[in-house]
Amino acid sequence: KGGKILVLPGDHIGPEVVAEALKVLDIIEEHNGVKFEREFDLCGGCSLDKHGIASTEEVLQKSVEADAVFFGSAGGPEWGHKLPNPESGLLRVRQKMQIFANLRPCYFASQSLIERSPIKEELIKGVNFMLIRENCGGAYFGKKVENEDYGLDPWEYTRSEIERVARVAGALAMQTDPPTPVTSVDKANVLANSRVWRKIVTQVFEKEFPKVKLQHQLADSLAMLFITQPTRWNGIILTDNTFGDILSDESGGLTGSLGLLPSASLAGAPGGQTGQNSVGGARGLYEPVHGSAPDISGKGLANPVAQVLSLAMMLRYSFNMYHEAEVVEKAVEKVLDAKDIGGLGLRSGDLGGKAGTKEMSEAIQSEVKKL
Ligand code: NAI
Ligand code: MG
Repeated sequence: KGGKILVLPGDHIGPEVVAEALKVLDIIEEHNGVKFEREFDLCGGCSLDKHGIASTEEVLQKSVEADAVFFGSAGGPEWGHKLPNPESGLLRVRQKMQIFANLRPCYFASQSLIERSPIKEELIKGVNFMLIRENCGGAYFGKKVENEDYGLDPWEYTRSEIERVARVAGALAMQTDPPTPVTSVDKANVLANSRVWRKIVTQVFEKEFPKVKLQHQLADSLAMLFITQPTRWNGIILTDNTFGDILSDESGGLTGSLGLLPSASLAGAPGGQTGQNSVGGARGLYEPVHGSAPDISGKGLANPVAQVLSLAMMLRYSFNMYHEAEVVEKAVEKVLDAKDIGGLGLRSGDLGGKAGTKEMSEAIQSEVKKL
């Protein structure tokens, strides 16, 4: 039990919210009698300042030796965007870890947040899906050509690249009873690589996950249907790098609370054979969707919720601690909800309230202790 976590707090609010999330982990350790080995290192602007590079070879090596990487956020105006920029540190870690499946849930951490959605309440109520984006292939990688008059990004996928990400979707689907339905998203009507994607995804599910209901959807129509019928996609959505980039930002927009969203990037299927870590979970990197928020850093104003929910994802996928993950998610929900803590529920500045980082964090911790 337990395992090894590489903690990379990063810049600005990164260290502020990571410290609070780790207090939640302290409580879980104490309660369960498990102990995680935690190693801290630099990634981002803080590493640029000290080493002249946004993530050192040593950090890259540690990231593949750890069972999970717990990441805050990297970047800030003081470092600019010219390469090497702080964000390149995270890209290097991602590349080294080969975390090919990026998971972003779309749901309301509290029903009281529905009012923040730009979508009508009766349409968005009950939305709950997990978007899985292939993150190591497709149009964003491969041999590019670029000159004055011509640009080319080869949009290619191989069988093994498609199979491994399809297996993450299948393994996740099988964790519920009945299995969670999966929607695979492509543009098979025009793209050759999409037709191959569709065929191989279908093969993987027929052969390895016959109990899972699989349907296919074209990416452009899904972009519209996300807005007009968001709950129709409840379950798992599986898609490639390009469509996943666009659709995951759109799905973040659906809830209107981008600052509350966690993410996981996995190098294998939970409970699967590949990409497993030393404790039997999937090796992965966990981070909030938001950035380093330099405008509010150092003031104790950052909302720790996305970082805490990222911790819950880490417990679930890398450490097989399903119950504990749920406890953390429920604690967050209670704190954000009005009823149980007498009055209005806690709201940090990003949610239109006045609660600070400490106040939010302490309320979450005390709920975790109760559950
Ligand atoms: P951002 O997400 O850092 O901030 C956008 C707005 O949301 C800001 O007004 C900020 O104060 C607020 N916000 C974000 N997280 C919050 C939280 N936890 N609590 C309360 N308010 C929160 O995005 P922005 O401003 O575009 O980027 C800032 C820096 O972060 C840039 O250097 C960018 O490159 C970097 N960045 C890093 C990412 C990463 O490390 N994975 C992801 C996105 C941006
Ligand atoms: Mg994007």
